Amino acid sequence: MYRDIWCGELRASHAGSHFNLAGWVFRRRDHGGLIFVDLRDRSGIAQVVFSPDVSAEAHQLAHSLRGEFVISVQGEVRRRPEGTANDDIATGKVELYASKLVVLNEAAVLPFTLEEAAEASETLRLKHRYIDLRRPELQRNFIIRHKVAKGIRAYLDRDGFLEIETPMLTKSTPEGARDYLVPSRLNPGQFYALPQSPQIFKQILMVAGMERYFQIVKCFRDEDLRADRQPEFTQVDIEMSFVDSSEIMVLIEGMINNLFQDVMGVTISKPFPVLSFKEAMERFGSDKPDLRFGMEIVDMGDLARASSFKVFLDAIETGGRVKAINGKGMAGVSRKEVDMLTEDAKAFGAKGLAWIKVKGGFESPIAKFFPGDILKQMAERVGAEEGDLIMFVADKENIVHNVLGRMRLDLGKRLNLIHDGFNFAWITDFPLLEWDEEEKRYAAMHHPFTSPADEDIEKMLRLSDDGFPVKEPSDILSSFTAKAYDLVLNGYEVGGGSIRIHRRDLQRRMFQILGIGDEEAYQKFGFLLDALQFGAPPHGGIALGLDRLVMLMVGAASIRDVIAFPKTQKAVCPMSGAPSTVDQRQLRELNIKTSVPL
Ligand code: AMO
Ligand code: AMP
Repeated sequence: MYRDIWCGELRASHAGSHFNLAGWVFRRRDHGGLIFVDLRDRSGIAQVVFSPDVSAEAHQLAHSLRGEFVISVQGEVRRRPEGTANDDIATGKVELYASKLVVLNEAAVLPFTLEEAAEASETLRLKHRYIDLRRPELQRNFIIRHKVAKGIRAYLDRDGFLEIETPMLTKSTPEGARDYLVPSRLNPGQFYALPQSPQIFKQILMVAGMERYFQIVKCFRDEDLRADRQPEFTQVDIEMSFVDSSEIMVLIEGMINNLFQDVMGVTISKPFPVLSFKEAMERFGSDKPDLRFGMEIVDMGDLARASSFKVFLDAIETGGRVKAINGKGMAGVSRKEVDMLTEDAKAFGAKGLAWIKVKGGFESPIAKFFPGDILKQMAERVGAEEGDLIMFVADKENIVHNVLGRMRLDLGKRLNLIHDGFNFAWITDFPLLEWDEEEKRYAAMHHPFTSPADEDIEKMLRLSDDGFPVKEPSDILSSFTAKAYDLVLNGYEVGGGSIRIHRRDLQRRMFQILGIGDEEAYQKFGFLLDALQFGAPPHGGIALGLDRLVMLMVGAASIRDVIAFPKTQKAVCPMSGAPSTVDQRQLRELNIKTSVPL
């Protein structure tokens, strides 16, 4: 038997018992005749002592042990002598005196030790991911990930949801990214797309009378990667029939509350705060606001109008906005630091950054443009007190929100305003459509299957057929609201969903608005349009990004820390070497020629 107890399980109550342990040599220390080995398995670390008095043979062999050798030891558990206990680890009161040592496998010199791993380059760590993954911090992430997935399955099962698999080799489902394509050998010249999400299939499962579906499922999106984005990632995908938005929100709040309680021992109070998209943008400059701190963005339009500062007046006259944030305690910043803040604002897209220091009065190059007590009113509105720095941006609304939203996040970090915790919120009432200036057409803000608000449905159906394709932004189209909701946590979008269109005429109209004509719609989504005419129930759902949720639960800096074998920024797997070239013969079979010289 390799082992009969795990390393991390040894306790003082075991003193006097004999056990076998197996695992990896974490550290070896030689101390005046005794050899100490920290033996590690997934459960933790146990101290093993090799003494010539117990076994000369084991003691002799222990000299050959190096880092990450795989061994099995047999021995007696003893209490550590007075003063040598290690209170930092659960097994710290005892040690195993080895009577037998078997080296099960040796390890070559490591590219990095587990203790150095955090400093090693990520490419090196990913190339030898099997070593990296031995780190207890990373193993903990996967234990939590496992518990989260298990908790989700149990919760949804209790609520009558069925886990149903949908195809991986399928047709494109538009979620706004590029598809990964797979050539079909049996159908030359044709391709499957890997799903960007199971969206259309889960809707068809509702037409099929499955009522409540979920799936913990891989999705594939060929998009530019970031710390919170991978080309293949996992969704907790959910769909229900005969529901409205609020029922889905209640379901998810219950699930999150359960998960955090069971997995983390943390109470997340329900219901979550709800902010409309407009309110989130106005107050936080983002549709995924970090609500762990205040520092809200404040409108100064009316007060700016009373000034003679041309930058502000011009912005207002051309339909723009003037808004501000308050940098608590920042009045002491130097000229150079103000210049750096201005450069930040410019990098985020602003033309400049106007500022006022509250320092025994108002200190600012633009103070002279503000008559009467306007400065005082501004300071009051943004909550600025003695010692603070008020920062203004004047521009088009979306620029003002984006710049101040990003400065708020940067300064929140810099001023240490962001407290620990999990601040969930729902963002609702998104616009249905978004004008794409480059492509000169509307795009769906969530996806093309999302229902407009009740009051917009008739308006949308009544639009004249002559108006399509849409060639320029229209006030009426831009005014439509979607029955969509995003779940945000600490500044990340961890989920998104909507009530769907279940009427064929409305779905057709939506495609028309998006510039997808009948023929193209039928070619791409005919199977959904067909299904919608055979008794489709009202339905809706949501998908949570499991990787992102777990990343935030464990406090990881990157989504890569909660994915066993992630890809790099260039969508490469340094360990397996994927993607790679393939045999000419394989390509010929698939009727594929590449224009890249092989
Ligand atoms: P959406 O596109 O918002 O909605 O995706 C749902 C959630 O999945 C996560 N996510 C990602 N995580 C890691 N890497 C990525 N590249 C990535 N892309 C998305 C996010 C996001 O909130 N079919 C709809 C859901 C629905 O309407 O029911 C959908 O896929 O956390
Ligand atoms: P100027 O009149 O260009 O010298 O700018 C005076 C101050 O206003 C400087 O601090 C600029 O950084 C700032 N500023 C310029 N444009 C803007 C803008 N669009 N919004 C906010 N501040 C600005």
